[in-house]
Amino acid sequence: MPVTNLTDPHPLPEDFTEGGLRPTNLDDFVGQARVVEQLRVFLEAARKREEALDHVLLCGPPGLGKTTLAHIVARELEVRLQGTSGPALERPGDLAGILTSLAAGDVLFIDEVHRLSTVVEEYLYPAMEDYRLDIVIDSGPAARTVKLELQRFTLVGATTRAGLLSAPIRARFGVVLRLGYYPAGEIAAILRRSAALLEVEIDEDGVGEIARRGRGTPRVANRLLRRVRDYAQVRAGGVIDTAVADEALRLLGIDELGLDELDRRILDKLCRSFGGGPTGVKTIAVAVGEEPGTLEEVHEPFLIQQGLLQRTPKGRVATERAWRHLDIKPPSGGQLRFDG
Ligand SMILES: Nc1ncnc2c1ncn2[C@@H]1O[C@H](COP(=O)(O)OP(=O)(O)OP(=O)(O)O)[C@@H](O)[C@H]1O
Ligand SMILES: [Mg+2]
Repeated sequence: MPVTNLTDPHPLPEDFTEGGLRPTNLDDFVGQARVVEQLRVFLEAARKREEALDHVLLCGPPGLGKTTLAHIVARELEVRLQGTSGPALERPGDLAGILTSLAAGDVLFIDEVHRLSTVVEEYLYPAMEDYRLDIVIDSGPAARTVKLELQRFTLVGATTRAGLLSAPIRARFGVVLRLGYYPAGEIAAILRRSAALLEVEIDEDGVGEIARRGRGTPRVANRLLRRVRDYAQVRAGGVIDTAVADEALRLLGIDELGLDELDRRILDKLCRSFGGGPTGVKTIAVAVGEEPGTLEEVHEPFLIQQGLLQRTPKGRVATERAWRHLDIKPPSGGQLRFDG
């Protein structure tokens, strides 16, 4: 079986640029109608008042377009974007350096904003609220605070784990936007656009096949398209139709629901080794040899969305659909019932 992990939260090199597939304005951004509509209104209002946009928090599983939207916001406002991430801002000095370099209206994009250290977070509060930095110089009795005025900037934060965000920082975002998995029709639209940009020959059925198995995630769908293209080039004269897409996706270990090997291993362990649960996420993580964080951030949201897994206070539980998908019988007398 191939070892490519198609839902890897740590992107491969081709994802640094996303192969030039990242939309650069709101009109090219497919789907997420409510989020886009809200953004249009807030952007327009900020432009009319010639003010900085209120701070924006983008939440949702990996690969749904958070970074893309952050860049689009800056572009639509015609301002610069300075990007960094929670773990990269180790000391308050790192933050001060960036904040003081921002011009009026600029966007500061902080990816993985839930991973900011507590100290840095505390420096960020007055910056977000009053555009002011209180820098403490020296320590002990000689300690004193220097106040630095900042330009009015817009903080755009992105997080895959909104639940891990501290309450004070969450409260300081004026706009909170949640991205959800895309329906297959929207993924199909994204694939058509990507195929045109990559000059891939693919028919409508081929698009539909990849879209159905694309995990409702643009990054995954685009990646599948590239892999299917490779397969088509080597085995099928470069043209992608349903059969070619199906063969290539099978080879990649992607099943009819779009589950990859690790998704299936999670369900398999849960059902075969733990009788369907409830089982703690740490136990499952050890059983499949993955980090609990990756399970919670990448795999579980999709399995839950697909109705294959439930999170309960006692742990994870496989649903009836999961047993059926794995084609195994749930233990008799268990909490699960087959209705048909
Ligand atoms: N709505 C969309 N329309 C078209 N393409 C999209 C859309 N959303 C995302 N993409 C594509 O998917 C890729 C991944 O999106 P992006 O990097 O913005 O995800 P993300 O939410 O920031 O992920 P992560 O949490 O891993 O940082 C983009 O480069 C782009 O090619
Ligand atoms: Mg991102």
